Amino acid sequence: MTERKAQLIVDGKPESVELPVYESSLGPDVVDVRGLISSGYFTYDPGFMSTAACDSDITFINGSEGVLLYRGYPIEQLAEHSSYLETCYLLLHGELPDAGEKLEFENNIRYHTMVDQQIHQFFNGFPRTSHPMSMLVSVVGALSAFYHHTLDISDPEHRMLVARRIIAKMPTLAAMCYKHGVGQPFMYPRNSLGFAENFLHMMFGTPCEEKEVSPVLARAMDLIFLLHADHEQNASTSTVRLAGSTGANPFSCIAAGIAALWGPAHGGANEAVLDMLDEIGSESRIDEFIARAKDPNDPYRLMGFGHRVYKNFDPRATVMREVCNEVLEEVGEAADNTLFRIARRLERIALEDDYFIQRKLYPNVDFYSGIILKALGIPTSMFTVIFATGRTPGWMAHWNEMVSGPYRIGRPRQLYRGPAKRDYPAARITAKAS
Ligand code: CMC
Repeated sequence: MTERKAQLIVDGKPESVELPVYESSLGPDVVDVRGLISSGYFTYDPGFMSTAACDSDITFINGSEGVLLYRGYPIEQLAEHSSYLETCYLLLHGELPDAGEKLEFENNIRYHTMVDQQIHQFFNGFPRTSHPMSMLVSVVGALSAFYHHTLDISDPEHRMLVARRIIAKMPTLAAMCYKHGVGQPFMYPRNSLGFAENFLHMMFGTPCEEKEVSPVLARAMDLIFLLHADHEQNASTSTVRLAGSTGANPFSCIAAGIAALWGPAHGGANEAVLDMLDEIGSESRIDEFIARAKDPNDPYRLMGFGHRVYKNFDPRATVMREVCNEVLEEVGEAADNTLFRIARRLERIALEDDYFIQRKLYPNVDFYSGIILKALGIPTSMFTVIFATGRTPGWMAHWNEMVSGPYRIGRPRQLYRGPAKRDYPAARITAKAS
């Protein structure tokens, strides 16, 4: 194949910089700007709107067509035919497991769900009113203290063990964050239960009473985890990669990813959706909030609408919408759930209103997942914790992909606009000396 080149001409000067162009298997090709520095230029791309920071085989998104593929498989097909744990295996290993591999993986996860008893002590230090994400970011970071000296990140087997450990322990830690907040005893994981069912058992069971989990709700929980499992180079994944590029302990890298996920523009959006629906409160107030969202002088935004990448529809939202109906039917709230009615009307307006159509602001995955989680009885403050639990295999797959290849420390450049070099004022030196 002929080598493709892009040319950069600055200020119309005849000498141009030649930059190699690489072909993607799907999606836009990339211009390799690494050599640009020798010509005295950096590229400038705040928000990474046009910058690929790595090459990756894991996930592909075509935002304008509403396509999301994990290792080539469409998310809709995985949602229909696969399970969260099978999808975790796919993300980590690149292929779907055969029957033996699947069983081995599931058992392995099952037997890594407990956390060291010392972890309980960390929770004692948190006020009961702590936001669950503040506890999660801390206790996941704390896991690095338990698995550091024996870990060799250059060993692929060690890396897979870390991945399995963290995937298995996330639901346990997530449920502990909830239990601490409500002042109930922590529930130990139960090895007889499936992944999602076990999570709901640790959330809602107590030592006094077991929690029977309906298969519809367990499946919905599993789907929420699956649909969040990866999303290519989003803010939290890029954070995990950046932290990992220094050779840091992977549990700390995941803690960094959790911190990045917390913000309302990223993982905090499903929580923000519920806060918004609560604030709206009744169908009669919808127009007022829509008007605020459209007012260029008001920073107010409708939470759960719009996406940096999906500028058509979010395929995860399509699956979630169906699950949302099933769950509401199961919990018997479909008929008279004000919140759900407000949500449905907002959805309709956004799909019909010119402001939203022109800006391609469609309901995103958080819009529906928030409502499902609410129907499952999960408090709003736990929503992002659940997102983090689901996203863990994606973070680990990206960390593993980076660490297993040649990689450099991530070190962005800047467009400096501060003062030029200047001397410390002589008058201040004199004043100090006297
Ligand atoms: N409500 C009202 N207007 C909006 C919204 C919204 N939710 N989102 C974007 N806009 C407007 C924005 O004001 C701008 O209008 P104009 O062109 O007149 O200035 C235009 O749409 C483009 O917005 P942008 O900020 O340039 O778009 P972005 O791609 O940088 O931002 C976003 C994407 C997701 C941060 C943004 O749409 C948003 O804040 N949405 C609400 C929060 C949310 O639901 N976040 C979850 C994203 S999905 C979870 C994940 O995958 O991490």
